[in-house]
Amino acid sequence: MYSVATTLSHFSDSFAIMHETSLTEIPAYQSLQLHHANAQHWELRELFQNDPRRFEKFSLAAAGIFLDYSKNRLDEKTIELLTSLARGRGLESQRDAMFSGHKINTTEHRAVLHTALRAPRNTGLKVDGQDVPHDVHAVLSQIKSFTQRVRSGEWLGHTGKHITDIVNIGIGGSDLGPEMVCRALRSFAHPRLALHFVANVDGHDLDAVLAKVNAETTLFVIASKTFTTAETMMNAQSARAWFVKQASEAALPKHFVAVSTNTQAVTAFGIDPANMFQFWDWVGGRYSIWSAIGLPVALAVGFDHFSEFLAGAHAMDEHFRTAPLERNMPVLLALIGIWYRNFFNCPSISIAPYHQDLGQFAAYLQQLDMESNGKRVARDGSTLNVATGPVVWGDVGTNGQHAYFQLLHQGTDLIPVDFITALKPTHSLPGHHAALLANCFAQSEAFMKGKTADEVKEELQAQNVAAEEIERLVPHKTFPGNRPSNTLLLDQLTPGTLGALIALYEHKVFVQGVVWGVNSFDQWGVELGKVLAKNIQTELQGEAKPNAHDASTNGLIAKAKEALA
Ligand code: F6P
Repeated sequence: MYSVATTLSHFSDSFAIMHETSLTEIPAYQSLQLHHANAQHWELRELFQNDPRRFEKFSLAAAGIFLDYSKNRLDEKTIELLTSLARGRGLESQRDAMFSGHKINTTEHRAVLHTALRAPRNTGLKVDGQDVPHDVHAVLSQIKSFTQRVRSGEWLGHTGKHITDIVNIGIGGSDLGPEMVCRALRSFAHPRLALHFVANVDGHDLDAVLAKVNAETTLFVIASKTFTTAETMMNAQSARAWFVKQASEAALPKHFVAVSTNTQAVTAFGIDPANMFQFWDWVGGRYSIWSAIGLPVALAVGFDHFSEFLAGAHAMDEHFRTAPLERNMPVLLALIGIWYRNFFNCPSISIAPYHQDLGQFAAYLQQLDMESNGKRVARDGSTLNVATGPVVWGDVGTNGQHAYFQLLHQGTDLIPVDFITALKPTHSLPGHHAALLANCFAQSEAFMKGKTADEVKEELQAQNVAAEEIERLVPHKTFPGNRPSNTLLLDQLTPGTLGALIALYEHKVFVQGVVWGVNSFDQWGVELGKVLAKNIQTELQGEAKPNAHDASTNGLIAKAKEALA
């Protein structure tokens, strides 16, 4: 068991806000630039031909996940330079600072302790005098007893019927995590409980869900860290009004529970504080699935599976905390990302889960990565002179193959891909899984090898195509190849492996933030739009202020007012 208390004293609050050395001034960065001058000409095909042990060398297993990173444009020297870059940025001490509860979120003066949410009860850790594991496990016990009551049928609706539908109302981290995980673990779900997620302020979202559920048998989970987020509050109030119309105010406690850090606002909304599941300001929204925000997951799959999910993440935490950087999976994933982003200038990365149940994984990673590292200033406020977070996007394979993979194979940008799959399915339909895995492995092979002009010619000649036609077709049918990818293999998609997978990406994002020198834990960029929306909403619903904005915004408001009148 580790104790983080001892490491705390090594850090002072000035640690994270001291003047940042520019990344480009680090000697390893300059060495990487020189190294890249050669590496950019390497061909993956040749790297494989020249080293029969490449797969063994550039792969590793941790916390139930196998990572093959051999199909990347790198060699041992690349890894050596990248890890020395990470060391030059103080990665190890910053990692320890995070685990220790140091306030590394310097613009919000907060610790960053999602790892404590999945740590064992006896992990010694205090933040502002508060015994963190004690508080975490108290809420876990509350989640356990509540979810057992709902799942067993002991918790009844106001007319004495079993709960059949759970509606989670939340947005961002209070939606994406529970929704993604509930879908990923749907083969473990309780057969009586249907899960619904409402995030969008667009009334079509809530309206469609309310049309499907029955007030007598529905439980609403209002999930909001702040309990002030405009979209969530509007949806919660509308759901409340819908419910009261069909039942009564008195029936509310049996049908509305809350997950929040804001007891006062929850109580003011009319939810019994006994039915409020607490979390803390040191849990960032996009890192909150491990907290009570995971309540819908525990309701769907049961507390034991939820515990396995936490344990899987903890196993990855332990690997990240203790493995040498050169054999550390999140560190390697992060540094490979830095290699492409900062040296090959890759604008985006694509996530390709070859597992239908991971259908929302790319959307989840979008918030995790882009809200964390979509930053243009360093922690000390200075403007960065290097590119930071890439655009993260993707969808499940094989569907993506028939949509946008064309651009990945033959487009003008180099876009690294993370393939994610499970060796064993959780269904029993014959043949499907071999077909799925074959496609996954074939795509990474095709990205790596491509198809040369000579190979295309040979193929067309064998089909007796006329010489002029061959000349015409060759450029179109040639694949440049040399397109990098990682492949992540889970044995099976289970609560434990899913937990480890999410934690892997969380730590990847952390490492990249450290290397870029940004605060990965604030999100000021979403504030401006929120404030402007409030003003415009007042104008749309009340008095027009014809010249309050620029000509475009004024014109759009005028059109909407006309339509809404
Ligand atoms: O959009 C910004 C954000 O603060 C996210 O980081 C967060 O996950 C989301 O809004 C929802 O916030 P809350 O849980 O407080 O409603």
